[in-house]
Amino acid sequence: MERTYLMVKPDGVQRGLVGQIISRFEQRGYKIVGLKMMQIPRETAEKHYGEHAGKPFFAGLVDFITSSPVVAMVVEGKDVVATAREMMGATNPLKAAPGTIRATFGVDVGRNIIHGSDSLESANREIGIFFRPEELVDYGRAIDTWIYE
Ligand code: GTP
Ligand code: MG
Repeated sequence: MERTYLMVKPDGVQRGLVGQIISRFEQRGYKIVGLKMMQIPRETAEKHYGEHAGKPFFAGLVDFITSSPVVAMVVEGKDVVATAREMMGATNPLKAAPGTIRATFGVDVGRNIIHGSDSLESANREIGIFFRPEELVDYGRAIDTWIYE
């Protein structure tokens, strides 16, 4: 089953939104297979956001994401990479669709609460950056037959 990398950013943790954000993915039917709080080392942040190196907001982005703890998670389920992005909403919270996480909780592009992998390829790369294989748990849920046909 498909997996994605999601991360409650420092603003989401500081604002006490971790539970509400995780709940949205649980309620949808997705399964958490990896979860931890961590303070991201600068080197890791630069690697994670490598595609943005050289852009004007890059330094501020790395400063921000390393400034306070994040909650990192791997979530598994049907079409989860694209669906999680839909649930998050557009990068700029002011442009995000109503009801999405970013529209519900944010107003500033540099404080947009949550990260989610933008493709299956990114998901595999980012999961590898933040989690060791033994930190991911394979388990079944009795409720799965009520979520999947
Ligand atoms: P992530 O899930 O965090 O990767 O967001 P995204 O995929 O929706 O956006 P993208 O990868 O393009 O940008 C990564 C992060 O950089 C965004 O989540 C923003 O926090 C920040 N960012 C992107 N564009 C801008 C910008 O124009 N200005 C500022 N200040 N921050 C930006
Ligand atoms: Mg991105």
